[in-house]
Amino acid sequence: MTAHPTPRRFSATGPLTGRLRVPGDKSISHRAVMLGALAVGETRVTGLLEGEDVLATAAAMRAMGAQVEKVGDEWRIRGVGVGGLLQPETALDMGNSGTSTRLLMGLVASHGITAAFTGDASLSKRPMGRVIDPLGLMGANFTPSPGGTLPLMMTGASPAVPIAYRLPVASAQVKSAVLLAGLNTPGITSVIEPVPTRDHSERMLRGFGATLDIAQEGGERVIRIHGEAELQPQQIEVPGDPSSAAFFLVAASIVPDSDLVIENVGLNPTRAGLVEVLRQMGASIDELDPREVGGEPVADLRVRHAPLSGVEVDPETAPSMIDEFPVLFVAAALAQGRTVTRGLEELRVKESDRLAAMAAALAAAGARVEETEDGLVVDGTGGDPLYGGGPITTHLDHRIAMSMAVAGLASKDGVEVDDTRPIATSFPAFEVLLAEAMA
Ligand code: S3P
Repeated sequence: MTAHPTPRRFSATGPLTGRLRVPGDKSISHRAVMLGALAVGETRVTGLLEGEDVLATAAAMRAMGAQVEKVGDEWRIRGVGVGGLLQPETALDMGNSGTSTRLLMGLVASHGITAAFTGDASLSKRPMGRVIDPLGLMGANFTPSPGGTLPLMMTGASPAVPIAYRLPVASAQVKSAVLLAGLNTPGITSVIEPVPTRDHSERMLRGFGATLDIAQEGGERVIRIHGEAELQPQQIEVPGDPSSAAFFLVAASIVPDSDLVIENVGLNPTRAGLVEVLRQMGASIDELDPREVGGEPVADLRVRHAPLSGVEVDPETAPSMIDEFPVLFVAAALAQGRTVTRGLEELRVKESDRLAAMAAALAAAGARVEETEDGLVVDGTGGDPLYGGGPITTHLDHRIAMSMAVAGLASKDGVEVDDTRPIATSFPAFEVLLAEAMA
């Protein structure tokens, strides 16, 4: 990231039309690099997201002995084998990436190595106790900063102890940290999920040849991984990221006369909550050419402008759209009537406190919004543009920046975003694709 903030005003310049292709899924890209780095032999990956977060994972895997390089359009990863991670010589810089940090802590936890993790100002505020607790039970040792945050030192256990762990928060990152630690742990490590979260780790671990038993027991999902596993190198095509497509789904829905096709969007049911909620609001979203890419359901989405109505969002759907709430709030601000969201405490510990950040940002742009303990209540304009304004504060949070860029497209005066640099963590091509869709 460059040293100085890069502000920008996003303004209404007309409909979004044509076709665009969103970059590779961030969650799947992290996992492809990590599992490739643990297989023996060469894994090849196409469609990898080349955002800063995934590049932080790639750098960390290199620092622990894997070869990770790009040849043409393909990423080639030569792994060290499960159990073969080397002690990194310098601190692992995780940048802005919570996923890199928590999943890699899982990997280190069952290797007899010591590693230091550092991150930017946003990541250094985020809670790590949620992974320290289960990984500590498996035998790893931690010295975090006060409050259980980064910078943090840890030493993994060799051998680690298998555990059965019921997730106290609905978090795919915590689930994945424990499963990845379980890869190099003798015996069976289990995670019990009272509420299902994204299942990319389970799908990909199986794809690489690990033995996982997944069962529904007493209304809970139980995942058991058999250690110590051996992973076989794979050829992986990463599907497009529904969390990146989300900005264009909302933009085309709220900007009059838009008619846009977003190609290659991953529609794994554990990620597709926003599409459902937008449809409940009246959005026009058609799935074209449904198919499978990299073991995940994918389709091209045709989205046309449509009048939206406020809804009550069922808190049960929150995990399947956890990263999409900032941009959903923008859709709500343009809808007819009231949108009520609840049960979203987790949004307060993302790259920023997304409830507070979006309440402040939308209010600055002229929306009517009320922040509650665990959600936002938004009274929409009924399709009239927002006044606009700013500069709004992104708090080093890519999704706040992109959501408010979308709000700017449906505003009279435009919305000024104080810093667009964080967008590169997950979606470096966002501004270029937006300009193309509006040309
Ligand atoms: C992710 C899980 C989610 C999500 C994050 C990516 C993952 O976090 O917000 O962007 O790749 O596992 P939590 O597991 O903390 O909810």
